[in-house]
Amino acid sequence: MFLHESGEGGGVIQGSASECVLVTLLAARHAAIKRLKVRLPFVEDGTLLSRLVAYSSKVAHSCVEKAGFIGFVKMRQLEVDDDFSLRGHVLENAIEEDRRLGLIPFYVCATLGTTACCSFDNIDELGQVCARENLWLHVDAAYAGNALICPEYQHLIHGVENCNSLNFNANKWLQVNFDCSLMWVRNVETLTSALTVDPLYLQHKHGNHTIDLRHWGIPLSRRFRALKLWFVIRTYGVEGLQTIIRQQTILAKTFEEKVLGDDRFEVLGNVTMGLVCFRLQGPNSLSIKLLKMINESGKLHMVPALLNELYVIRFAICSQSASEADVEYAWDVISAFASELLAGRRESATNSDRLSKESASESDDEVFNTDFDDEFIFDHQRCHLQRAHLKRNFFFKMVSDPKSYNPRVLRSLSGRHRSHSVGSSSPGSGEGAYIGQKPVANGAMSNGTPP
Ligand SMILES: Cc1ncc(COP(=O)(O)O)c(C=O)c1O
Repeated sequence: MFLHESGEGGGVIQGSASECVLVTLLAARHAAIKRLKVRLPFVEDGTLLSRLVAYSSKVAHSCVEKAGFIGFVKMRQLEVDDDFSLRGHVLENAIEEDRRLGLIPFYVCATLGTTACCSFDNIDELGQVCARENLWLHVDAAYAGNALICPEYQHLIHGVENCNSLNFNANKWLQVNFDCSLMWVRNVETLTSALTVDPLYLQHKHGNHTIDLRHWGIPLSRRFRALKLWFVIRTYGVEGLQTIIRQQTILAKTFEEKVLGDDRFEVLGNVTMGLVCFRLQGPNSLSIKLLKMINESGKLHMVPALLNELYVIRFAICSQSASEADVEYAWDVISAFASELLAGRRESATNSDRLSKESASESDDEVFNTDFDDEFIFDHQRCHLQRAHLKRNFFFKMVSDPKSYNPRVLRSLSGRHRSHSVGSSSPGSGEGAYIGQKPVANGAMSNGTPP
């Protein structure tokens, strides 16, 4: 269904997963507004736009949020279950809640293999909800999608028939060098109609017979990325690529065993591919400090993530030539730094006269945080937050800041200032929103009737 030959679907190679997410969001936005326009021809596009809401899990990649603010739509990040997976009933409840507030749900970005912990949203459940509620479901499988070339992972896309689009980055795990992000859409028309421009200088006589990929994304000019993908497949063969994925997964499992065998550490999330998220038992400050020591040593480089407010260190197997000896080496480095850190922490606690022996264990975090940790946690975090705040797009506030996505504000807007309602709010009708309110303060909805 995603193939050019046999239906309405097709595929294209984009430069990045972020681009795939953005263009699919734009296509879904276009389709939603087009549908609304049939019933509300005199309501301004901007008014309709202000009612659209998109969803992802709270562990989705930041490019989803970025697509939201570029696309100027509200973006809700939904809770995940114990396996960091977004489930159908959570989406369903959010849709119901938002429809009641007068919003128009139109797009979901599910993730297969989240960046933070390689968790998997439940595509089957989400797909059923999206089909029922008429939402565009995009699957961002930037990393983990590569593993779908192995039959044992294909259960992860069970229910893919309800998805509208999917992407994965061959440059992440299929031995292709950057950039090479493969994207499929179920209906090409819905994508290209959102992105087509056709000035005279770009027109040509083959327009009706060829696939013109300039309508499939943002850039006009395109690199010949298919060639390098073709060379990689010819060089390794599908079996060769499968072997690399399987070997790297085994190495990750080997590392996981080592972590689990040391009770100073814990592993968060399930290890199903090449990523292990681990931390030192205890306060976040310990793992923050540990990672700082390791990265500064130059012996290894790892990147952290936050999972339910717990700071984890991500051990990712990336290199094609990674071996068991590398895992041994990495573990030796990590455990040696952990010993050094924990010894320093004990010493710091002993030197401090403030603790009695009995209360020492309970107050450990406090001692560590004040005597040992302040200088980098606070300074580092404060600077980081200030920098992020300054750099952040102004529109961020308008689309994904939880303070702006305030159900109470929305509820009061759609309740008190409503002039008339449009459409039914039954599930599946998709767009039972209240459109056409009297002008209210703070840039809220303006009257949608023509002048
Ligand atoms: C799940 C996921 N989505 C999106 C991205 C962004 O990828 P790109 O750099 O291709 O935009 C990443 C990158 O790590 C990712 O892991």
